Amino acid sequence: MKVLLLENIHPVAVETLEARGHEVELRAGSLSEDELIETLPGVELLGIRSNTHLTPRVFEAATELTAVGCFCIGTNQVDLVDAAARGIAVFNAPYSNTRSVVELVIGEIIALARRLPEKTAKMHAGVWDKSAAGSHEVRGRTLGIVGYGNIGTQLSNLAEALGLRVIFYDTADRLAHGNARRMPSLDALLAAADVVSLHVDGRPGNAGFFGDEQFQKMKPRSMFINASRGMVVDDVALRAHIESGHISGAALDVFPVEPKVQGDEFESVLRGLDNVILTPHVGGSTQEAQEEIGWFVAGKLASFVAEGSTALSVDLPAVQPPPLTEGIRLAYLHVNVPGVLAEVNAYLAAEGANVVGQYLATRGEQGYVVTDATDSISDAALDKLRSSPQTIWLRSYSPA
Ligand SMILES: NC(=O)c1ccc[n+]([C@@H]2O[C@H](COP(=O)([O-])OP(=O)(O)OC[C@H]3O[C@@H](n4cnc5c(N)ncnc54)[C@H](O)[C@@H]3O)[C@@H](O)[C@H]2O)c1
Repeated sequence: MKVLLLENIHPVAVETLEARGHEVELRAGSLSEDELIETLPGVELLGIRSNTHLTPRVFEAATELTAVGCFCIGTNQVDLVDAAARGIAVFNAPYSNTRSVVELVIGEIIALARRLPEKTAKMHAGVWDKSAAGSHEVRGRTLGIVGYGNIGTQLSNLAEALGLRVIFYDTADRLAHGNARRMPSLDALLAAADVVSLHVDGRPGNAGFFGDEQFQKMKPRSMFINASRGMVVDDVALRAHIESGHISGAALDVFPVEPKVQGDEFESVLRGLDNVILTPHVGGSTQEAQEEIGWFVAGKLASFVAEGSTALSVDLPAVQPPPLTEGIRLAYLHVNVPGVLAEVNAYLAAEGANVVGQYLATRGEQGYVVTDATDSISDAALDKLRSSPQTIWLRSYSPA
């Protein structure tokens, strides 16, 4: 397939796609809407990062586009509803930077416990202030993890390896890793933790869920870290608790309002405080994460093309069929109306095809069914199915 990768996507993506026989063109920057409209005809797979915006006008012009890989975490830059309606699969890499976030948080726990932000600021100002006052080891301290998902659990494992005691609270049932202890409530966690680290997701109900009341319930002289979402924390309340000394240190990587463009001024009530680490939303930004993202998303595009797998697609119904080793595979994206499966099977039965596997998923107004059969199916039968009013697309695959 003809692939276009924009925005300096990691070379491992090129290697992965070329190894699967695709023809890859690379461009360093992003393209404007008009440039995309001019460039995309003929492109079958497109790779972007966060600066390329895919609008209905762009999709309208991209007549051969089958899938988009967002080589990043977010997908706000893509009109997913329009992509889905056209049957264009969109993939991203939601978890490829988990380890990077965890390592930053581990570094911050130690840096805050040793009051490094203050010490380094003083040294840069020419002040030699050698003192153990307020500096602690993290060994034996209690880390309270709020949100025990991908990042929370990996943090749990690394923190225990450092000798921290781990407690966690999650609104969903989560299995405890290692010796970590599940807490029955957020309040119970706040009362017991020396360090509270937030790793909740961005569901609307989490907006402002950590404010004055929660800071008050934290232990005196405890530390606070947020590398999840800016909107979950009331930064004004946090500032007040840092100034009063109730919170002894904090590290923030995410903020309710973040500069849109590189170089724009960062405005926050948390600026100018001692023992507070502020980082520009770089928790997941490492070279290793970029490589992991390149490998992961390119792999998703390649399996979509070779096997019809929509696993982890953010817009189409997700089906992950097993590798096709013999026979024929039909992948059928259709409008989700009753009777489609029966219709597909009726066509196959009329052809005398023996179905050996069938995998179905629906999402909103669409259904996706992947059928593996032992025998070939005539073009006439495929054309009949293609001309059904509910068809979005029908593709057939043979073993690699
Ligand atoms: N700073 C960065 O650069 C960076 C990078 C990657 C991810 N993130 C953010 O980190 C957060 C965690 O990512 P993840 O991949 O672990 O997500 P995840 O979806 O795997 O885990 C989130 C967990 O939080 C739990 N949860 C949600 N609301 C809760 C609440 N109010 N109280 C307790 N538990 C709650 C969920 O049940 C889930 O287990 C996300 O918000 C993500 O956007 C930030």
